Amino acid sequence: MEPAPEVSDEARVKQVRRIFSTITDRYDFLNHFLSAGRDVYWRRFLVRRLRFFQTYRLLDLATGTGDVALESARCHPAIMVTGLDFAAPMLQAARPKIIRAGLADRIRLLQGDALNLPFPDGHFDAVTVAFGIRNMPDRARVFAEVQRVLVPGGGFSILEFTTPQGDLFRRVYFFYLHRWLPRLAKIFTGNPEAYQYLAESIMRFPYPSDFVREIGASGFQEAGKFALTGGITYLYEGKKD
Ligand SMILES: C[S@@+](CC[C@H](N)C(=O)[O-])C[C@H]1O[C@@H](n2cnc3c(N)ncnc32)[C@H](O)[C@@H]1O
Repeated sequence: MEPAPEVSDEARVKQVRRIFSTITDRYDFLNHFLSAGRDVYWRRFLVRRLRFFQTYRLLDLATGTGDVALESARCHPAIMVTGLDFAAPMLQAARPKIIRAGLADRIRLLQGDALNLPFPDGHFDAVTVAFGIRNMPDRARVFAEVQRVLVPGGGFSILEFTTPQGDLFRRVYFFYLHRWLPRLAKIFTGNPEAYQYLAESIMRFPYPSDFVREIGASGFQEAGKFALTGGITYLYEGKKD
């Protein structure tokens, strides 16, 4: 695969928006298939660790087809959930799932940008973002917005793919990402661009220890990480002071 050409943040944001507006139909199926069902476990791991203590509100950024929002509402019966995403087709796919689950009165979907959150200060006990932070070039801005909308003591939880650090696993994983993922995506979606983008964005993302430092440097306390499935995915957590 060719190395990714350098593009501006603005162009990248447009590309992300276009990609996620076109792969919606098969997004859930492909997630489960390409991760061998592990994506369900990863989200569940994140959701079980969430804590609610003041506003009982959760904001799920980059909610996509709503899986974290749904799992959170199921697991924490006392909370209200807002799922925010800038791709309308993803939200359209989330809506029937929420209605089918009988959770429409507790999960609200909102089209919006994670860089400009339409909420007052201190509105949420917890903010989550699963497989979305990688797509946001201006992470410092996202972190600042999350700090603003969290209550003091509130938690920020991030699930993200990363490249494993063990030599053999790393090689196998690179081979899968670069050779197989685009082929499988072509067969199933006819849109290999989306999954080429996925592979490139995983490679560009910081190593877990660097990312934890980044979270800490942006003002979150007790920033920590958990390696899931051999380090393909990490859960990162930070707490607002
Ligand atoms: C890989 S999907 C993840 C969806 C979901 N969280 C999940 O776990 O399946 C990434 C989502 O991030 C959304 N996204 C990317 N950048 C965004 C931004 N700046 N503001 C809001 N949503 C964004 C995309 O539209 C897409 O739905």
